[in-house]
Amino acid sequence: MKNNKNFGEWERIPTEIFADADTAVQSLANEIEELVRIRNQVSEKTVLGLATGSTPVPLYKELIRRHKEEGLSFKNVVTFNLDEYYPIVPEHPESYHCFMRQQLFDHIDIPAENIHIPDGNCDREEVLQMCQNYEEAIKAVGGLDIQILGIGRTGHIGFNEPGSSLSSQTRLVTLDSLTRSDAAKDFLGEYNVPRHAITMGVGTIMNARKIYLLAWGRAKAEILKQTIEESPSDTIPASFLQNHSDTRIWIDGAAASELTRRKSPWLISFTDWTPRLVRSAVTDLSLKTKKPLLKLVEKDYQENGLADLITEKGPAYSLNIRIFNEMQHTITGWPGGKPKVEDTHRPERAQPEQKRVVILSPEPSEDVRAMGATINRLISQKHDVTVAYLTSGSLGVPDEEAIRGSELIIDAINLDESSLVAVAHKKLLDKKAFEPDCQEIRKLKATIRKNEARAALKLCGVKNGNIQFLDLPFYEKGKYRQFNITESDMKRLRILLMQKQPHQVFFTGAFADPSSVPSKAFQVMKQAILGLESEEWFKDCWFWQFNASNKEWELPQIDMVVPCSPDELSKKVQAMYQHRSQMQQLPLVDSNRKEIWELIQEKNRNTANRYDLLGMAEYEALECFRRWYPST
Ligand code: GLP
Repeated sequence: MKNNKNFGEWERIPTEIFADADTAVQSLANEIEELVRIRNQVSEKTVLGLATGSTPVPLYKELIRRHKEEGLSFKNVVTFNLDEYYPIVPEHPESYHCFMRQQLFDHIDIPAENIHIPDGNCDREEVLQMCQNYEEAIKAVGGLDIQILGIGRTGHIGFNEPGSSLSSQTRLVTLDSLTRSDAAKDFLGEYNVPRHAITMGVGTIMNARKIYLLAWGRAKAEILKQTIEESPSDTIPASFLQNHSDTRIWIDGAAASELTRRKSPWLISFTDWTPRLVRSAVTDLSLKTKKPLLKLVEKDYQENGLADLITEKGPAYSLNIRIFNEMQHTITGWPGGKPKVEDTHRPERAQPEQKRVVILSPEPSEDVRAMGATINRLISQKHDVTVAYLTSGSLGVPDEEAIRGSELIIDAINLDESSLVAVAHKKLLDKKAFEPDCQEIRKLKATIRKNEARAALKLCGVKNGNIQFLDLPFYEKGKYRQFNITESDMKRLRILLMQKQPHQVFFTGAFADPSSVPSKAFQVMKQAILGLESEEWFKDCWFWQFNASNKEWELPQIDMVVPCSPDELSKKVQAMYQHRSQMQQLPLVDSNRKEIWELIQEKNRNTANRYDLLGMAEYEALECFRRWYPST
């Protein structure tokens, strides 16, 4: 095992944290380009092991750019992909054959015969032979020079799920239920995700001369911590990379957020005790020792690596009270500010009493998931709330759902054949396998999601007139992993902001994978507000981040929590339940996966529980927000 020299015994694989995915892939593209150019000069081949999923997409974009703009040639490059679903035909839009064509091969000059991807379409009896041939083919070209990896939330590399051995070779595997549920969005339902895959083995990957594992976004933070900091074991196959002599892990800040050097840096070296770090250390200590904040004593600090903190910021008694108060001040039943009261220690300002609020939801459903109860409060406290959906979310609607919806309408009213619903319905029935949706179908699916969004917001008290669907072109003209932001996206959002001149903007996506819809929505917002800073209203506009995922932020990162009573929580559940097209399409016999509304309900309850453990008041559930400063 090698140690990363900066982080001593903590990090067992050299890990670099980049400002963002784009910066990381620039460096990686440089490495690949250098190798390819050197090999080209001596007429030798470069052998690359390639990955799929969202993670390598920015890298492939950069390689394509270098090919098109700078003449980087891939004529002498040979590639081996890690894996493929099984069974799947290569024309299936979610097959890795299709993915690789769309994301890379169709845009560079690599000869077809140099491309290798496991065949997901061969007969069951031929799989073993095909896998052996794959191993032979890698050996025949002298092995992999560079292997690119992503990581699944189970800790898989390729499709080597927990239980895969260090010496495993290319083979047929069964997918983990978490992997299948993560792929459900791409396949429009978990039941569409193949149960098996063919993957290079851990042993095959370990034979590569150099390995880069990439990861972006908050969703990968926990598994990366285990991969990098825990002893290698087959429960996290990626941790076997600790045994490889030339592996690097390149990640962004959100993916690094669980690493000890980021989360608890005081355990590694002398720490500059910023207010956030102090809060983090003390709340962690309280949860770890299972003692409310006000019951922590010097000994607790000393025995848990916080002797420096208590020396610098102690004594324990006053430090406890300070953090207790800080946490207490994040709680408010007045997310738009409480009128006519002293607001120095409140998360939101009292003035103006009635605020104009704009909630920017990347697609329908993220708004109510993250802040259904808060929306309800903002409205009952007389703020002027507008909910704007940046995209229609049409790509997330399964065909069956659209057919059912259109048949209901067609049966109910005798529809003219030329109406959108009738046309879309016919096109759905005529749709060939794997054909992308035409405009009419997308419109119909968008209508379904918009209708669900209105029904959900009605339960939160929002009137139809206060709901806007921006239908940003990046999404309406794009496909998953192929969304290109242009000026027209920013323009639409800017018009809305200029019209509303909000005092509060709620948004999300800052910590998401850069190719995802929430991350694109965040990028649009960030660019849209550039140039608005000098507007009078902007100077008095506060930005609040919400989190629509089922994993809550850490306590010290939270700036405002809004309590939900049991009734408010159940109303929120009803609101989430309106987004029926987003539910699992069939009951899953072999999976105990929960529906999204159950996960969110659990998340909000867990947060309340953590506040309770700190010694604060006991609430049924809490919704959380983080303040964001546009200048940062
Ligand atoms: C799939 C692929 C892996 C990939 C993982 C993560 O399961 N077989 O090779 O690393 O997903 O996907 P993403 O990059 O989309 O997060």
